Amino acid sequence: DKGDYRHYMLKEIYEQPQAITDTLAGKLADDHVFTSILGPDAEQQLHQIENIHIVACGTSYHAGLVARYWIEEQAGIACQVEVASEYRYRTVSVPANTLLVTISQSGETADTLAALRYAKKQNYLGTLAICNVAGSSLVREAGWRLLTQAGPEIGVASTKAFTTQLVALLWLTTALAQAKQRAPEIINANIRALRNLPGLVEQVLQLEPGIEQLAQSFASKHHALFLGRGPHYPVAMEGALKLKEISYIHAEAYAAGELKHGPLALVDEDMPVVSVAPSDSLLEKLKSNLEEVRARGGQLINFACERAGLETSEGVTHIDMPWVYDSVSPIVYTLPLQLLSYHVALVKGTDVDKPRNLAKSVTVE
Ligand code: M6R
Repeated sequence: DKGDYRHYMLKEIYEQPQAITDTLAGKLADDHVFTSILGPDAEQQLHQIENIHIVACGTSYHAGLVARYWIEEQAGIACQVEVASEYRYRTVSVPANTLLVTISQSGETADTLAALRYAKKQNYLGTLAICNVAGSSLVREAGWRLLTQAGPEIGVASTKAFTTQLVALLWLTTALAQAKQRAPEIINANIRALRNLPGLVEQVLQLEPGIEQLAQSFASKHHALFLGRGPHYPVAMEGALKLKEISYIHAEAYAAGELKHGPLALVDEDMPVVSVAPSDSLLEKLKSNLEEVRARGGQLINFACERAGLETSEGVTHIDMPWVYDSVSPIVYTLPLQLLSYHVALVKGTDVDKPRNLAKSVTVE
């Protein structure tokens, strides 16, 4: 039931504060996380992990790409991420003490399931499924399971499933950091950030009117570029996927530092460039990339915190984001991109909840 919402997608976007709260329930104490929810000896097994392979498709793959930044930085564990359709058909080299993590909303995606089955025949320390459907094949077949509590997601475009996957992955990162006895500040900061997250997400949802306005000028475009750096690069990838999926506008994401290596040639006044620009350690680098875009007449749309001090000039639109803790920033900055693609699709009159040619769950290859 859509309730008062025009589309399931919009309803699901607005359900995110609750979905995040539900996903975190019973997982956080004041200064540690409850690793026992994975199993009785989990903390000891987490301690042994030296490598992580993450395998997933589509939006769930993007969640994995964000997590790689967290896992390597905060837990000090080497991590690689791959789309399941590639992973399942190649010979994978598995170093000692590697955990395989699959991520899926449905738990029935054919390639992801095949990847898990393949992995179970390799020399992994264990397998973990992060999934939104408790009784799914993926959850039944994985060694460990970490359930997201997004509730049913009807819209084909994944929204609340993605942000709750990120929440589960940040929880996993914290659990690994704890098992590896990393600095307690890392664990405490993540717990604080996760606890504040639902309120912050509520706040960002209030930006909808400004984003709706922005969507008007966007809808006549044929192409768009999304830029980010660090963990906001996969957030940009997810923003581009969302836009192409429901509005059929061709969108591509680049790590902002790659701009000069090719895509800058595309930039002109007809090319909107969306930048995901939180106030983090990479902001200054990103700013110089954005100047390159402006110098070529590109229309810039910045999602940035006021404190970032990005220059305003003609052709530059800002959406002011609240200040956020670094670790949850990729989650928070996902929201305006969901709202942007939703409103662009509305202006274009496409079928938001059931985009052409796509199925909610891809159970065949
Ligand atoms: O159910 P899964 O998470 O395994 O699905 C994977 C992809 O098919 C899915 O995320 C797809 O990319 C979304 N429709 C994108 O919004």
